Amino acid sequence: MHEDLFSRIEEFLRCTRCPGRLAFDSSAGLLTCRSDTSHSFLVLDGIPSFVKEGEISAMDARWVFEYDEKSEQYDQAVKGYDTSLGVNVREEFARVMPEIRNDPHFRVLDVGTGTGAVILGLLMYFPDFPGQLVGTDLSLGMMRVAQRKLAELGAQVPLFHSTVARLPFEDDSFDLLTHVGGINTFSNIPAAIREWVRVLKPGGTLFFADEGLSPAARKSRRGAEIIRSNMLFMLNPPLEQLPPQVKKIRLQWVARDSFYVIQCQKLSVEELGELEPWLP
Ligand SMILES: C[S@@+](CC[C@H](N)C(=O)[O-])C[C@H]1O[C@@H](n2cnc3c(N)ncnc32)[C@H](O)[C@@H]1O
Ligand SMILES: [Zn+2]
Repeated sequence: MHEDLFSRIEEFLRCTRCPGRLAFDSSAGLLTCRSDTSHSFLVLDGIPSFVKEGEISAMDARWVFEYDEKSEQYDQAVKGYDTSLGVNVREEFARVMPEIRNDPHFRVLDVGTGTGAVILGLLMYFPDFPGQLVGTDLSLGMMRVAQRKLAELGAQVPLFHSTVARLPFEDDSFDLLTHVGGINTFSNIPAAIREWVRVLKPGGTLFFADEGLSPAARKSRRGAEIIRSNMLFMLNPPLEQLPPQVKKIRLQWVARDSFYVIQCQKLSVEELGELEPWLP
């Protein structure tokens, strides 16, 4: 079953240690690099792990430890936002989420997928989506909850254990990349966004959102109270961290001006060709 899940997407899997392609070795339970067989990645209960000791910053490791610890309570905890902000946070994101196409070649990657809220939301809105959904996260605990929820739905969605800043996918692989809720605490936000843009197809859409009050909400008494309860709401949308490979940048505020949403598009092949060579 895992073999099926990964063989369908083998064409866009890539080693995280070199540009080699990956192949699933079911007898060994590994994904192995075709260019260098010493690059192999364990598949842990159906989730290939691309996380190597020493490659994760102390700050990312600390956050992910917390998510691991609280993974079983996470969905309930998010509902606390609904109560404290007076909104349905999930509905607010669904309202502004880009549409996915009824196309078997359409691919969506959700990074920092956690317990799978974004993927499950997309499936709720489009249960017969014929394309490919993929999720990644640094917390195995969170993804085990996602895996359980997806299995209950009978949804075949491959999940990968990896940091947002080093994804096991070829350049130009996805039509849409989504991320909700983790970016504010990433140790290296520009590196994460560069990596997201790398794996998007030219013309593909990037959508991400996190806590952050609009300028008007910051000045209100409600805003001051929200910030007192959680300093993350004080953060500004990281617009200046977007790389030159994107255009049509759009900033929105949702959930009564408490979350920012950034959407943009990767440049076309022609436009990319006019830029300076891609920086590592
Ligand atoms: C607030 S949760 C959001 C989960 C999900 N997107 C949602 O909307 O419910 C943030 C997620 O980002 C993940 N995360 C945090 N830092 C990460 C990193 N550096 N690389 C990959 N995932 C990370 C956490 O493990 C966690 O699952
Ligand atoms: Zn390799």
